[in-house]
Amino acid sequence: MNIKTVILAAGKGTRMVSEKAKVLHKIAGKPMLQRVIESAEALNSKVLVVYGHDGEQVKQSHSMFNISWVEQTEQLGTGHAVKQVSPFIEDDDIALILYGDVPLIKTDTLKKMVDSVSDQSMSLLTVQLGNPTGYGRIVRANNKVTKIVEQKDASEAELLIDEVNTGIMAVKGVRLTQWLDRLGNKNAQGEYYLTDIIEMAVNEGVLIETIQPDNEYEVQGVNSKVQLNELEREYQRLKALQLMSLGVTLADKARIDIRGDITLTGSDVYIDVNNVFEGNVSLGKNVHIGPNCVIQNAVISDDVVIKANSVLENCSVGKNSIIGPFARLRPGTELANDVRIGNFVEIKKTVVGEGSKVNHLSYIGDAVIGTGVNIGAGTITCNYDGVNKHKTEINDGAFIGSGTQLVAPITVGAEATLGAGTTLSKDAPSDALTVTRAKQITLKGWVKPVKT
Ligand code: UD1
Ligand code: MG
Repeated sequence: MNIKTVILAAGKGTRMVSEKAKVLHKIAGKPMLQRVIESAEALNSKVLVVYGHDGEQVKQSHSMFNISWVEQTEQLGTGHAVKQVSPFIEDDDIALILYGDVPLIKTDTLKKMVDSVSDQSMSLLTVQLGNPTGYGRIVRANNKVTKIVEQKDASEAELLIDEVNTGIMAVKGVRLTQWLDRLGNKNAQGEYYLTDIIEMAVNEGVLIETIQPDNEYEVQGVNSKVQLNELEREYQRLKALQLMSLGVTLADKARIDIRGDITLTGSDVYIDVNNVFEGNVSLGKNVHIGPNCVIQNAVISDDVVIKANSVLENCSVGKNSIIGPFARLRPGTELANDVRIGNFVEIKKTVVGEGSKVNHLSYIGDAVIGTGVNIGAGTITCNYDGVNKHKTEINDGAFIGSGTQLVAPITVGAEATLGAGTTLSKDAPSDALTVTRAKQITLKGWVKPVKT
């Protein structure tokens, strides 16, 4: 027995008012369809996606998955959409129907659905809504489901039913394919309704097991930018609650965005307002993050302080270091313990040794910096000659005077001192002062210009 998950993603999504296919719009940084695929793959199921609009774009964005793509050239209804995959469904399979625009469905819920399918039963995910308008209603007799009636086809009495169809269902392959063959489109919308298979099931004595999701957001669909945002905020709210339950202090639980995963390796993390986390971020004990930082794929060790408005990307920060305010750590930055990176400093692909400082207005790229190095304000590594990148090496205990340019490839010896304003184009020896400086002159008899 195999599980085949069919994800419907052929809808145009007109109400998104976008050039992009609806299912490519993102929740917490990840396309909606990708979220559904991942939930399905966690069940060890084979995934089939029914696509229509922008097929190439949608396929390309999900090329990392091993899934089958099936085109629905005309959107004639949900039943017609599922019918497109009939040739891929074997009798003994369990077919699970999901939607590319219902992105937050949980694997646990899907597992319950699949587990209650047998030769004599199928499962349907339903939910009770305060306002059921627009949804298909679950009609019951003696408490047993007898059919689903769509809003546009419902009688007045049926419209009062508040239990609705989420659209998500699981059914034995052999049954599904037979029922799909018998669907018609004589209804208010002239569509082939997938929901009509429920009545067929009941007529054949197949029991409809109804399952409810733990949370309503799991079955919420996205048709507009407003709904996309509502789901995004709900997702972020839950992420924030989860962080706090793990001991993180948030200045404002409504002003943090996590587009990826935060791993905590210690307690007492503090996060100020307006921080964005992307990819995998690991935070150590007692880390303090000031307001307005963007942190992407980073490992931040214990007792680190990241001050306001800093941007960190693909980097690691050693214990007890202080970053920012207004610092930028670019990919390949590896800071040892007790490092200081101050305001308006950009570091790229550089290893900085323990206790070293780059405190003001500098660019350090493609460099290896030893321990206890002090880099003065306005220091620039000239690492790029217009064609290639070159390496700068600054050894332990060196002192780089302010306004220095290091023309790479170049090495500064241990305990060397460079005078302020030096343009270093040859290696600087250890334990010595090196300085390049034009002679200072003062012109006597110079007259200040006057305004004409
Ligand atoms: C459907 C259900 C309804 C349920 C509701 C939940 C049917 C007939 N009705 O109604 O009972 O309460 O979902 O949201 O199934 N799609 C295709 N190809 C098509 C038609 C639809 O891929 O030809 C996809 C859409 O992209 C969408 C999903 O199927 O993701 C649902 O289609 P939609 O037209 O929105 O169904 P509803 O009328 O909302
Ligand atoms: Mg519709």
